[in-house]
Amino acid sequence: MAGIESLLRELEGLEEYLKVKPLYFDLDTGEFVWLDTRLLPFEEVYRRTRDYRRVADAIREMEIRGAPAIGVSAAFAMALAARESRARSVEDLIRDLEEARSLLASTRPTAFNLFWALDRVMERIRATASTGDPGLVREAVLEEAFRIYVEDVRGNVEMGRIGSRLIEDGDTVLTHCNTGALATAGFGTALGVIRYAWYEGKSIKVITTETRPVLQGARLNVWELKKEGIPFKLIVDGAVGLVFRRGMADKAIVGADRIILTGHTANKIGTYQVALAAWHNGKPFYVAAPTSTIQPVEDPGSIVIEERSPDEVRMVMGKYPITLGDVEVYNPSFDVTPPELVTAFITERGIVEKPFKENLARLLQG
Ligand code: MRU
Repeated sequence: MAGIESLLRELEGLEEYLKVKPLYFDLDTGEFVWLDTRLLPFEEVYRRTRDYRRVADAIREMEIRGAPAIGVSAAFAMALAARESRARSVEDLIRDLEEARSLLASTRPTAFNLFWALDRVMERIRATASTGDPGLVREAVLEEAFRIYVEDVRGNVEMGRIGSRLIEDGDTVLTHCNTGALATAGFGTALGVIRYAWYEGKSIKVITTETRPVLQGARLNVWELKKEGIPFKLIVDGAVGLVFRRGMADKAIVGADRIILTGHTANKIGTYQVALAAWHNGKPFYVAAPTSTIQPVEDPGSIVIEERSPDEVRMVMGKYPITLGDVEVYNPSFDVTPPELVTAFITERGIVEKPFKENLARLLQG
């Protein structure tokens, strides 16, 4: 518990960056708590559970979404699984935790942070297993989850500080999907960079796409940007080309669900079009993401693209039909932007320029 206490003290030092607390672990009740992003911007409802299966459902149904938030939540879900298990031996506990791991790993296939966080927790479990004490393993899982949580917040603030250098006073920045506090443990990645530039007093404007079909831009970016008082305009996804053509945006900054060593970047469907429009109009296209989003592989074909329910496209937020109920739909949740369209990556360890393969590999080693 001493480890957790010192992590919480560190978090207190970052409080000024945590105006929105999208998720946390309540040590008093032993519950994991999260803001249900499905209901935003209309209702702010926090959900709580001691059941890791409920966290898996929340990730699958996108009450919790955004690659880093998914990873952190899965780590806390593993802590819930460890607490729930009645195992008296380390071997039995590990068996229960493997079961929890595979359920959590099945929720969202593209977000690399999910697998990264689960692997980190499993590594910590194995490292503690030699004690033969299931109590120590349970404590270690919770501490590792807190560590991943605090590292994410700290990394986002650092990424914001580093990335803000790329934003000039007077810039209009276009962004796609929600990459703010709501997509992370706090502060945000691409929106964190924008937020940091705003905190530094730069006079900036944001253009956010609505981000069909789940509307992370129209619902979540609007909620976050309004809270901060950052001036912004909302556009339909199809307006991105025109906005760049008319010189209304100076650069694009987006997040990522998975980056591989070649620089291929999986992010919310439509990101590739944003990159093409920026490139065709001579504007920089930046990807802001923590190193926990970078998968150390080189084959873009290995990136799994999640396909979600056709009803996300047939209806708005599962409520309002906008087409015939039986219409055939293709609903990929992500696309892959090729490295030639990426100007640079912004990470908590620095800005990564071309050649990406060498520089991303070096970054991960560092
Ligand atoms: O389907 P989502 O809402 O989980 O997709 C999120 C995104 O694509 C974000 O841009 C990405 O996870 C980066 S979040 C910091």
